[in-house]
Amino acid sequence: MSMAMVAFLVYFLLRLLFSCWILPIRAYRKIKKNGFEGPTPSFPLGNITDMKNTKNYVNDSSLRSSAAISHDLHSTVFPYFARWQKTHGKVFIYWLGTEPFLYIAEPEFLKKMSSGVLGKNWGKPSVFRRDRKAMFGRSGLVMVEGEDWVRHRHVITPAFSPANLKAMASLMVEPATNMLNRWTTLISCGQAEIDVEREITTTAGEIIARTSFGLSHQNGNKVFEKLRAAQTTLFNSNRYVGVPFSKWICPKKNHEATKLGHEIDQLLLSIIHARKQSWDESPQKDLLGLLMEGSHLDGRSGKSLTARELVDECKTFFFGGHETTALALTWTLLLLSLHPQWQHQLREEIKQVIGDEEIDFTRFAHLKKMEWVMKEVLRLYSPAPNAQRQAREDIKVDELVIPNGTNIWIDVVALHHDPTIWGGDVNEFRPERFKEDSLYGGCKHKMGFLPFGFGGRMCVGRNLTMMEYKVVLTLMLRRFSFSVSPNYRHSPSIMLSLRPKFGLPLIVKPL
Ligand code: HEM
Ligand SMILES: *[C@@H]1O[C@H](CO)[C@@H](O)[C@H](O)[C@H]1NC(C)=O
Ligand SMILES: *[C@@H]1O[C@H](CO)[C@@H](O)[C@H](O)[C@H]1NC(C)=O
Ligand SMILES: *[C@@H]1O[C@H](CO)[C@@H](O)[C@H](O)[C@H]1NC(C)=O
Ligand SMILES: *[C@@H]1O[C@H](CO)[C@@H](O)[C@H](O)[C@H]1NC(C)=O
Repeated sequence: MSMAMVAFLVYFLLRLLFSCWILPIRAYRKIKKNGFEGPTPSFPLGNITDMKNTKNYVNDSSLRSSAAISHDLHSTVFPYFARWQKTHGKVFIYWLGTEPFLYIAEPEFLKKMSSGVLGKNWGKPSVFRRDRKAMFGRSGLVMVEGEDWVRHRHVITPAFSPANLKAMASLMVEPATNMLNRWTTLISCGQAEIDVEREITTTAGEIIARTSFGLSHQNGNKVFEKLRAAQTTLFNSNRYVGVPFSKWICPKKNHEATKLGHEIDQLLLSIIHARKQSWDESPQKDLLGLLMEGSHLDGRSGKSLTARELVDECKTFFFGGHETTALALTWTLLLLSLHPQWQHQLREEIKQVIGDEEIDFTRFAHLKKMEWVMKEVLRLYSPAPNAQRQAREDIKVDELVIPNGTNIWIDVVALHHDPTIWGGDVNEFRPERFKEDSLYGGCKHKMGFLPFGFGGRMCVGRNLTMMEYKVVLTLMLRRFSFSVSPNYRHSPSIMLSLRPKFGLPLIVKPL
């Protein structure tokens, strides 16, 4: 009996040693042999200690005065990458726990690397898939790979067609108008300052919930509440990605998130079943309805999504779509407050294109200046500060080989702030750079502007986002003017996405 236990213990320890120590060392040697370098890792935290220890590097005095707001954020949000770049260049290896990551901030390397790999042959880092399962599920589009990804993408893409987006746009007006009415009330009660980040994030959450699975069903609202709770919980719990057994560092939070995840799944399943029952009466034009319709029509060819997969897609739309869009709008309001002449120009454009009437969504394509502003904001304050991949085969880049299994971390903030491809005015807010070159903003390299990622796995929601951005910004600029509050502290920071750490208090005035 005790022999068996000892044997089991020894076996367990050996396995542990193997997966946490020998495998990573082997991977490290292999990558090194191929000529990559980077900071020396230590066991078992890799370079995480270095990465968490950022306080020393942020210049605190710059937080205080809004007069000194700088858009040069790379060394503020990623001080460790900025430092490692100085010694190791724009491509190197670093370690999250026992997982090696290939860091890339070199557009030409990125181009060569991605040119030979199809969307379906890319993986997403297994550490993140485990870590974010509660958010994106096992089979949401962000996380699936291979033929499964092809099938999902095939069903999902048509749901985002221009005609469908127009139907969704009308679902966006009400939540946005409610928010603005609330502002009017607050202002008339004497409150001059509004934390627009919080307001917009809540509203964007409601918008994405409506466009994804609808809120009309009685369970719709419950799902929304729980998704928001899960978001807050997960937010504070994944500081130790890649470290063995990190799950047990905050067991309570992890348990909470898992429990919420299950409850959300059950509620969404009940919505899906209810819709299947009343199928012929009223197919709904939200994303879930469209995906079910697509599955319904395509069902015979084996291309459909199961109920389980539909649940994961709804969660994916929520987590992938609401905070990112909210942040694009939030940072826009900051930049428009700092550049009143652009605020004025956009208001004039809205007057000409849309007028004061009910919004005609077919005219949105003419809001050109608004598009430049959106792109320039996504460049300077990219809500998704990085893109991730995992190699599922050996990938050749010139004479280097990225071995199968290597995690890849693309530093989008570094690319968007790189003066060698954007020029000396890289840290200035100049929307007009997108006037002549609407796709790349005059960037010298086509891989230098990646707000929505790259290649076949680029964001499916980008046209939906553009629609939402235009609806909400149009409604806001028609009713209010914005300027920076003296209480604003400029501190962009990474919490999964790129957020203003202390919110965005603005002085809001009715027009
Ligand atoms: C400003 C808003 C948004 C930003 C900055 C953004 C950014 C991104 C980025 C960087 C990726 C990864 C691409 C890659 O790895 O190459 C992505 C993927 C994705 N996004 Fe978005 N996104 C936004 C809005 C949305 C919205 C509104 C939705 C859905 C309703 C959405 C759904 C997705 C999905 C499903 C994927 C996975 C696509 C795939 O792997 O095939 N996103 N997004
Ligand atoms: C991370 O890299 C640095 C070198 O930049 C090294 O000194 C350190 O020991 C590594 N490990 C940790 C846990 O920071
Ligand atoms: C911090 O920023 C202020 C003003 O931007 C500058 O004068 C000062 O030298 C900076 N301090 C450090 C340590 O970089
Ligand atoms: C890559 O590695 C995985 C797991 O180690 C293996 O299953 C897969 O077959 C490998 N792919 C190729 C193309 O060698
Ligand atoms: C977004 O719209 C553009 C132009 O209308 C179109 O070319 C593109 O394929 C659309 N993208 C997605 C992901 O639907």
